[in-house]
Amino acid sequence: LSELEVDLAPIAAGQAIIVSWRGSPVFVRHRTATEIKEAESAPMADLKDPQTDEARVKKGHEEWLIVSAVCTHLGCIPLGAKPTDPRGEFGGWFCPCHGSQYDTSGRIRKGPAPANLPVPPYAFLNDTKIKIG
Ligand code: FES
Repeated sequence: LSELEVDLAPIAAGQAIIVSWRGSPVFVRHRTATEIKEAESAPMADLKDPQTDEARVKKGHEEWLIVSAVCTHLGCIPLGAKPTDPRGEFGGWFCPCHGSQYDTSGRIRKGPAPANLPVPPYAFLNDTKIKIG
């Protein structure tokens, strides 16, 4: 399937799920108010792959972050979907393979990965449903 509909209603704030889109894993994360604030206030000068949080989410739906679940280093799946997973120093994702750390916007903050987790094309169909692709 080139398009995938995802129901957001069951995903509680602070949690994420992994879906499969075109054979690749994608994180769908429901961010808390604190996580959004951290993502928005990160200084651009601290970012290896500078991108504003605003550019990575949809206006009016800032609590939802949809990013590729493939580490941009060598392709492992970072930990951080489950609330019990280690999420690294920046509260986003921690890649167990070589220690890359991503923030709550999915941006690379530490470790060998060269780039942010990419945001796939997606759109909101309504407040609780998105279509990826
Ligand atoms: Fe993630 Fe190497 S594959 S840090």
